[in-house]
Amino acid sequence: MNKNFYITTPIYYPSNKLHIGHSYTTVAADAMARYKRLRGYDVMFLTGTDEHGQKIERRAAEESKTPQQFVDDIVDWIKDLWKLMDISYDKFIRTTDPEHKETVAKIFKKLYDQGDIYKSTYEGLYCTPCESFFTELQLNNGKCPDCGREVEKVKEESYFFKLSKYQDRLIKHIEDNPDFLLPQTRQNEMLNNFLKVGLEDLCVSRTSFTWGVPVSFDEKHVVYVWLDALSNYITALGYLTDHDQAFNKYWPADVQLVGKEIVRFHAIIWPAILMALGEELPKQIFGHGWLVINGGKMSKSIGNVVDPSILVARYGSDAIRYFLLREVAFGQDGNFSNTALIARMNSDLSNDFGNLTSRTVAMIEKYFDGQLIGPGHANRFDAHVKQTIKDNIALMEENMEKLFFNVALEHIWTIIRRLNKYIDETTPWILAKDPDHKDQLAGVLYVLAEGIRIVSIMLEPFMPTTPAKIWAQLGIEPGALTAWESIYTFGSLEIINAKKGENLFPRIEVDKELAALEAAQTPATPPAKTPAEEVPEITIHDFAKVKLKVGEVIASEKVKNTDKLLVSKIQIGDEIRTIVSGIAKYYTPEQFVGKKVVVVTNLAPVKLRGIVSEGMILCAEDEDQNLIAIAPEKDIATGSNIR
Ligand code: MSP
Repeated sequence: MNKNFYITTPIYYPSNKLHIGHSYTTVAADAMARYKRLRGYDVMFLTGTDEHGQKIERRAAEESKTPQQFVDDIVDWIKDLWKLMDISYDKFIRTTDPEHKETVAKIFKKLYDQGDIYKSTYEGLYCTPCESFFTELQLNNGKCPDCGREVEKVKEESYFFKLSKYQDRLIKHIEDNPDFLLPQTRQNEMLNNFLKVGLEDLCVSRTSFTWGVPVSFDEKHVVYVWLDALSNYITALGYLTDHDQAFNKYWPADVQLVGKEIVRFHAIIWPAILMALGEELPKQIFGHGWLVINGGKMSKSIGNVVDPSILVARYGSDAIRYFLLREVAFGQDGNFSNTALIARMNSDLSNDFGNLTSRTVAMIEKYFDGQLIGPGHANRFDAHVKQTIKDNIALMEENMEKLFFNVALEHIWTIIRRLNKYIDETTPWILAKDPDHKDQLAGVLYVLAEGIRIVSIMLEPFMPTTPAKIWAQLGIEPGALTAWESIYTFGSLEIINAKKGENLFPRIEVDKELAALEAAQTPATPPAKTPAEEVPEITIHDFAKVKLKVGEVIASEKVKNTDKLLVSKIQIGDEIRTIVSGIAKYYTPEQFVGKKVVVVTNLAPVKLRGIVSEGMILCAEDEDQNLIAIAPEKDIATGSNIR
């Protein structure tokens, strides 16, 4: 049997603001990599950074750095973040690695030589101030989606990849291999929205910037984004080099994890490139959902990103990793909130699991001086406990194979809850009162300790540091008794040497912690305000920086403990924003719902009374302090731009 397992995450754009959403992909991949290692696989877990392109070139210039210096600094920061989150990658690839660049140039040349890449002209819509190309669909009412200014049609000489040639083979591959692209919904999306509509050839080079891999036979061109970035999955394995053992060993990848917005690149462009190269396709692309905030996207430009390092510093990486994989059904979007995080830590980690462990260890210490030899006396509840463990191990394994992390964790918790129930059923504190029941008591505590040992091993992929702390508390030496195979034999544990250790998951005081966490997450210096009387004259370009859109109030309520604030949900096109406004004196929530309003959509979010407000509703106020919300003069769709 092939015991190799190759798993990849996307390679990240260099940013020192990677947020909890970014960590989500990597934590998921890490859990899978650790699981497969425990199951005896020879694992290659790849992650890295996607460092080329015009944006990096520009941002480096803004900081008076060379692009290389700029990315070097950030990559160190990203590696530190992964260390903090216990990400056990086997290789970290950078698209600026010399070997990656050489291989990308070779791939480009090979595809050109065989006729899959050809030279033509790229016609695009260009925004000069932003130095960016856009497609018709990306424009906002015909204007640049970034700055709102006019765009112009520009022609640029470019190389193209014959993507269209692979359309039929791609459709067939997806239809013939139901596990190639998961979840199922993504298959339908790719087939119906792209593949069956028809593919256009893909522009794969640029001449408008230089920070990239030069085309070896035409150096004014650099290889454009996707061919460079996607190739990382094979260049990292030594593809097209004289040391391609890793490629021969690990390719095709077993699972490539990607967020839903880049599924198209991975399920269409990437397989087409591989087909052109004559290489096998990955066995599976899994497009997971997003971690969202109040139903909306987490993004640096909105300013609502959650910094994972703050959370890890307060609660440890095991708790955060657990939350990410337990709270969200992998494949779907899931909401992140501090409240949900703390609730899970209290209920699952502290109440269910932490208590089970600390009570068991404490009772073994109290009633047996910490020493217990098992298996002891059986009782009538044991059979059901053992059966529950056996069944849920099988279910956990089955769900791990499908990447259903939340369901796998739910099965582990079924065991934990069963063990807690076993304490209630067997009432060890009552058994302890009667010396004649000593053997029975020993039997009960043994079952608990053995159950905890099994659970701790099953938790290892998700929580890399907690299991070892539990083993220390039960006196278990890592080795045969902590190997995955040992969980199938209930009763493997013989000698227990219990010793109380640190409280693994102390209970959190919700209100106090929420306030402290919010304070830790709020930037220290609020942006400086311009006094009203000193408002300077602005140009039309300054004004264009304010993005105004039509929204509709779809829900509204008073913010608790204030008489001024309403918190409302505003529909703006496809998006729903949460906005807090000081209008409660002028509108009741009932009056406000259903109104069309004008929303400033690119205002940095602020936290008001613990609620992140993602924009501002425009109002007019007269000298008598009468206030009204500004409304469009006639009905018009939400999301419409206001200029
Ligand atoms: N560089 C490209 C990928 C090239 S792969 C050949 C890229 N980088 S990224 O830094 O923007 O995103 C990296 C990963 O983080 C993507 O899978 C993306 O979906 C994921 N996430 C970014 N924000 C996210 C959430 N809020 N929630 C979940 N995942 C998200 O795209």
